[in-house]
Amino acid sequence: MRSVNAIEVSSLRKSFRRRFRSEKIAVDGLDLEVPAGGVYGFLGPNGSGKTTTIRCLLGLVRPTDGECSVLGSTHFPEVVRRVGSIVETPTFFGGFSGRRNLELLAQIGEVPRTRVDGVLERVDLAEAADDRVRTYSLGMKQRLGMAAVLLKDPELLVLDEPANGLDPAGLKEVRDLLRDLADEGRTVFISSHLLHEVQLICDSVAIMSHGRCIAQGPVDEVLQVRGGNAFVVRAPKLREAKSVLTKAGYPSTFRGDQSLRVVADVSAAGRITKTLAEKSIYLTELRPEEISLEAVFLELTGDVS
Ligand SMILES: Nc1ncnc2c1ncn2[C@@H]1O[C@H](COP(=O)(O)OP(=O)(O)OP(=O)(O)O)[C@@H](O)[C@H]1O
Ligand SMILES: [Mg+2]
Repeated sequence: MRSVNAIEVSSLRKSFRRRFRSEKIAVDGLDLEVPAGGVYGFLGPNGSGKTTTIRCLLGLVRPTDGECSVLGSTHFPEVVRRVGSIVETPTFFGGFSGRRNLELLAQIGEVPRTRVDGVLERVDLAEAADDRVRTYSLGMKQRLGMAAVLLKDPELLVLDEPANGLDPAGLKEVRDLLRDLADEGRTVFISSHLLHEVQLICDSVAIMSHGRCIAQGPVDEVLQVRGGNAFVVRAPKLREAKSVLTKAGYPSTFRGDQSLRVVADVSAAGRITKTLAEKSIYLTELRPEEISLEAVFLELTGDVS
């Protein structure tokens, strides 16, 4: 059976028994559809059940209830060769070189050794390939982890927080790599707290809160549902502009950057311009307010990531 979705999760529940306390429900009736191809962001505050869901997907823990299907199979071992994953920080032999570590992994995974140089090149570690892993920076170790994932040329990548702890240059490298992998037709499923990064590369997202999915779909749609009802207005005499607009029925607030946030329907641009012009205030900028994934996330989860 082949499915159009790379991942399907239905009514997934996972609870953990705890000593001296009530059981902990980590995932609480989750439904998820991850389309094949593209980058899918799996977002949520700490403890919202992302890692637990990923562990269920990869057959690392047994769901309490519900079903996970990966690449059309509900039995993960059947598709394991087609899936590359990083859940916890991957461990390597510190005393061996990056290349040696990958050669060992290739041997275990029955992957031709000849792929090792290609993946090292791909994650920009070719120059450091013969240095011991214990001398690698965090970013280099992360990239070596990605190289290990790429060894088996996976159709689906499942990565739990792949950009954790990276500096801006490292983030861009990971972003470009993940985007390229998706553009080659692979599916990249990543959990992340870095909402700006997610907005830059993800095609679709799911937002988790307390073990449930509270929004999912293409990024544009998730943003659109909550956006489109405010403008950014810049004008001389900002204080006067604010009071004119508010009186005219467009609640306005200072944005703190010499501009106003004006709540109004998208069709109101002309009326806003006219209202101000009638009071001899000629605006210098009027644009729809961009909605960030971060703003939507905070609004939906009521949490700081
Ligand atoms: N083995 C376990 N035993 C008991 N509780 C657990 C276990 N694993 C996870 N939990 C609990 O389940 C909840 C969800 O944890 P999970 O690690 O899935 O969250 P997360 O979304 O990945 O969080 P983070 O963003 O911090 O990585 C947490 O409250 C956690 O304490
Ligand atoms: Mg986690």
